[in-house]
Amino acid sequence: MEYKFITPCALGTEGLLSKELSLMGVDKVAAENGSVSFAGDDFTCAMVNIGSRLAARVLIELAEFTAADFDSLYDKVKRIPFEDFIGKDDAFPVTGYSISSALHSVPGCQKIIKKAIVDRLSGVYKISWFKETGAAVTVRFSAQKDRFRIMIDTTGVSLHKRGYRAHYGAAPIKETLAAAMCNLARIFPDTLLYDPFCGSGTVLIEAAMMAQNRAPGLKRNFAAENYGFMDKNAFKYARSKALEQIILSPDFHAYGYDIDPECIKLTVENAKKAGVDHLITAQVGDVKDLALPNERLKVITNPPYGERLLDIAAARKLYKTLGQVAPPQKGRGIFAISPDDDFEKEYGAPANKKRKLYNGTIQCFLYMYF
Ligand SMILES: C[S@@+](CC[C@H](N)C(=O)[O-])C[C@H]1O[C@@H](n2cnc3c(N)ncnc32)[C@H](O)[C@@H]1O
Repeated sequence: MEYKFITPCALGTEGLLSKELSLMGVDKVAAENGSVSFAGDDFTCAMVNIGSRLAARVLIELAEFTAADFDSLYDKVKRIPFEDFIGKDDAFPVTGYSISSALHSVPGCQKIIKKAIVDRLSGVYKISWFKETGAAVTVRFSAQKDRFRIMIDTTGVSLHKRGYRAHYGAAPIKETLAAAMCNLARIFPDTLLYDPFCGSGTVLIEAAMMAQNRAPGLKRNFAAENYGFMDKNAFKYARSKALEQIILSPDFHAYGYDIDPECIKLTVENAKKAGVDHLITAQVGDVKDLALPNERLKVITNPPYGERLLDIAAARKLYKTLGQVAPPQKGRGIFAISPDDDFEKEYGAPANKKRKLYNGTIQCFLYMYF
């Protein structure tokens, strides 16, 4: 069966995600604001869940319509053939959001959508009480300016959770954002990488997985694996295809440093869990002591933000130090993410390119020097 899929992603990464999906061979890729849509079947669904580094989740769109009152919402949801997706014993939680819409109450929308699904399925299955003891087929809705989308979540736990993070260090960056930074910096199987503020190692690990062409979702499961309507072999097949594509020992190597020994412990633990520890060396170190070799290399880093970890003046001092120990030079790419408009001034050079990215709700720039 061919579906229309919606993949939400971080604002600013829609173009990168579209390119990633096109490179996977996916059809009808179209970027929207905060998401990308595409077409495909059960295998496409499994492949994108397992293989996308930038998508937050993969949703099947069941319907899109306008509704400005609850009667209209109920009627339009009840017309959707939910029996094709939700079995008699399945659970079907409903969750979503509403922005700038007449139906602004999320619990109100949830209640009406749930009632419409129950009434639809009662008619089909000839039962009035749903045990909901089977697989949880999560129904997601979005409402924006009265335009509703009704979708089925195939992912479950958000895709930024790759399954390698043992614990969270101080202010870890989301895996999907670290992947976007690495994507913009361009990682190759022979890249030499440095992160002088590595924290729990997210940038190093995402880059190492990219260098290995290792799909990020190989270490986790997905909600749709339990869905009755999904081809059971789709995920098995997509996993085996992804495993075949791994370059086990690329020439890539990444060096990570952090002033906090606990962070280095986490980096080592996480890299092991991700299966890329042979590609990463992590050591306690102060950025002021960073000594980069005179070779082709990349520095991709997420220095402390004034708002969250240190005061702004202390963070700016670190940008200055970074500029002293890792100034731009031929053959060296520097990629630093920061919400601070004064980053370039403190670092000591204007960036060749800046790219707006969001770290959660914080607007940042990736400052790129190459
Ligand atoms: C924003 S966090 C990086 C988070 C990391 N990207 C992750 O995903 O876990 C910044 C890191 O810089 C480290 N740090 C602060 N001052 C430092 C210094 N002088 N030298 C090296 N690391 C430092 C902090 O310990 C913190 O882990």
